[in-house]
Amino acid sequence: MGKMASWLLCILLLLCLTACTTYESELKLPPVPTTDESLPSLEEWMQSAEYMPPLKKSIVVGFSQLGTESAWRMANTTSIQDAAKESGITLILKNAEQSQTKQFEAVRSFIRQKVDVIAIAPVVESGWDDILQEAKRAGIPVIIVDRSVDVQDSSLFVTTIGSDFYEEGVKAGKYIRDRLRNVPGTIRVAELQGTSGSTPSIQRGEGFRSILAERDNIFFSQSAPADFTEDKGRQVMNRFLQVPKEERAQVLFAHNDEMAFGAIQAIQKAGLKPGEDIIIVSVDGSRKALRILADGQINAVVECNPLLGPQLMQAAKEIIAGRTLPKRMVPREDIFTQESASREMLHRRF
Ligand code: AHR
Repeated sequence: MGKMASWLLCILLLLCLTACTTYESELKLPPVPTTDESLPSLEEWMQSAEYMPPLKKSIVVGFSQLGTESAWRMANTTSIQDAAKESGITLILKNAEQSQTKQFEAVRSFIRQKVDVIAIAPVVESGWDDILQEAKRAGIPVIIVDRSVDVQDSSLFVTTIGSDFYEEGVKAGKYIRDRLRNVPGTIRVAELQGTSGSTPSIQRGEGFRSILAERDNIFFSQSAPADFTEDKGRQVMNRFLQVPKEERAQVLFAHNDEMAFGAIQAIQKAGLKPGEDIIIVSVDGSRKALRILADGQINAVVECNPLLGPQLMQAAKEIIAGRTLPKRMVPREDIFTQESASREMLHRRF
């Protein structure tokens, strides 16, 4: 390298060093914090205007309601809608109008929509294995509400939230057993069952029968399904009353209030006094039933609680949070008599 070239290289190096120094000083980098005091605490930061909470996706629950057959059912739907709103849960509600096929379609549509949790109030107990397998394959947890499902594999649903229908039947049976303990001779009982194959219809009947079995003079003389509706209750009771007087039932066990209302109309039409000529016990405890109970045309009403919304939403949240739930959750329930009816009526929500 010639002398000239060496000089040029020296000048170039000098220029480069000056430029680099200037660039660094112009940047004015902030000093690197060395202590924790220089940073706000987590709480301070979360309360500051700069803090943006991470966007939380609302939980989506698809709920297949079985129908609109009774005041109980309407109260159950409203409770679930209200609780969803209160908990910030998005609810997709489908009414199956008493059709299990429609419930299957609803579940499939929830799977397509990729909801977070599926809730089902099953119209009947049997036939759920395949559709629940589909939900399981899609990775969507299922909660059974109100009634039960009869499936081989209990891992197909997380939990059941609903009444102890057998116990409700037992309460009704005990009321009749105790009330008629001093009545001699044969006592015939007529039974208006709910929807055939539904859990409340099966279990209320079994519970009642378990108590009647203790007495050999009380037995079911007539029994038929009336679908939990007032209309059917009236029709079936009309038919029951066609028998000769000496075969007529002295007691009516109606599996819900609506059927009892229909039966009362039939009993009055036959020229008889409901609550006197025929002792009546029903289940649910709607305000209307308690008013009729206080008036003396029904003798006792076993409570069945429809307000399951808060428990259902809580369960959905727990599942999404990864917590384990008990396999069965049962609300507390009572029996109302003519003495307690007027007081209880004031607190009824349906
Ligand atoms: O499954 C609960 C029952 O269904 C209620 O007793 C009845 O009124 C309803 O329709």
